[in-house]
Amino acid sequence: MIKYKTLILSFSITCLAAPVFAQGDVAKAFSFAAKQTTFMLKEVDSAKAHANNPALVSPRNLKPDGTLGLINSKDWCSGFFPGELWFLYEYTKDAKWLAPAKDYTANIEREKDDATSHDVGFKVYNSAGNAYRLTRDPHYKEVLIRAATTLSRRFNPVVGSLQSWNARNGWKFPVIIDNMMNLELLFEATHLSGDSSFYKIAVAHANTAMKNHFRADNSSFHVVDYDPETGKILHRVTHQGFADSSAWARGQAWGLYGYTLCYRETRNKAYLEQAQKIAKFILSNPNLPADLVPYWDFNDPAIPNVPRDASAAAIMASALYELSTYSTANSKLYKTTADKIVKSLSDRYQSKPDENHGFLLLHSMGHKPAKSEIDVPIIYADYYYMEALLRKDRLAKRRPVVIR
Ligand code: GLY
Repeated sequence: MIKYKTLILSFSITCLAAPVFAQGDVAKAFSFAAKQTTFMLKEVDSAKAHANNPALVSPRNLKPDGTLGLINSKDWCSGFFPGELWFLYEYTKDAKWLAPAKDYTANIEREKDDATSHDVGFKVYNSAGNAYRLTRDPHYKEVLIRAATTLSRRFNPVVGSLQSWNARNGWKFPVIIDNMMNLELLFEATHLSGDSSFYKIAVAHANTAMKNHFRADNSSFHVVDYDPETGKILHRVTHQGFADSSAWARGQAWGLYGYTLCYRETRNKAYLEQAQKIAKFILSNPNLPADLVPYWDFNDPAIPNVPRDASAAAIMASALYELSTYSTANSKLYKTTADKIVKSLSDRYQSKPDENHGFLLLHSMGHKPAKSEIDVPIIYADYYYMEALLRKDRLAKRRPVVIR
């Protein structure tokens, strides 16, 4: 692992003159991703054999003892690796990725019925959503509609929001900014089924979050807790950030991506403006490092001596590529910034080949307050990094940046 101080020094030297990420760099990054994922498939098999627990179906992280962390299908991260396999199939067009993509997707399909959190969206959309997009197999369509129906059951019309987590920590109806990501499943279900109720729930949730999650500086609270009977706000707090009043980096990334996708789906200018306000908060933040890979929380007072979050950077890059296609005033800024982020990630945050059990990116932050997944490879960083690469590739080929 590179030490933070070394990272900071080398970034400030190299990033001053960082060239933008070129098209050839996408091919190089995907070639690395393909080799590394081939390695990961073997590593997963061997970790599974060692664990001797058939419920462990997807890779999630590098554990503190250096072993590969496997998870069961219920874990919120179970859909990311299947999604990566679909991305590799899409980019390489090599049929060798089809069987593992289908198998890993099938392993978590049962999650379409798990109504215990909003994470059904992360799990099913990133796996079966990509599967349907690339195969048009009607089975995946049914899985997606079923998952959206499951997620919809968490909608409370009094609050005007989906409930992200069940009551916990003294919260009655916690809604987290991350939940914006799972609206994509609902929008997709309306496209697939013609049933507008999914769309309406997504819009209501986005409007409520836009009203209640954001501060005057356009940073967002992580958790807003409501009274489910009255819709009254009970708490505005953090779960994974430095403080209730701080800007947890991945939360800002989820919001950026979420409002960008809401604009794509609705063409409501308010969502475009919200996404641009979030982008402004991030990109003009004095605590954003020169390499554009944020510290884990924008307001940690120990900055610069704190870990980065490569996952937040990857999510931001993917979102900014899409946002660049909607914004008129800032299109170039967003595109160039996304290029710089993927360049930083590719040049400085990549694992060495055949190391780290096949993860692509180092230096992500899972849950610092819980002392969990500190400065390690985590699967969702790789997923959004690969998605950003695909979006870059489509932009260069003048194809729609988001293909459904
Ligand atoms: N949805 C949980 C996280 O971003 O860590």
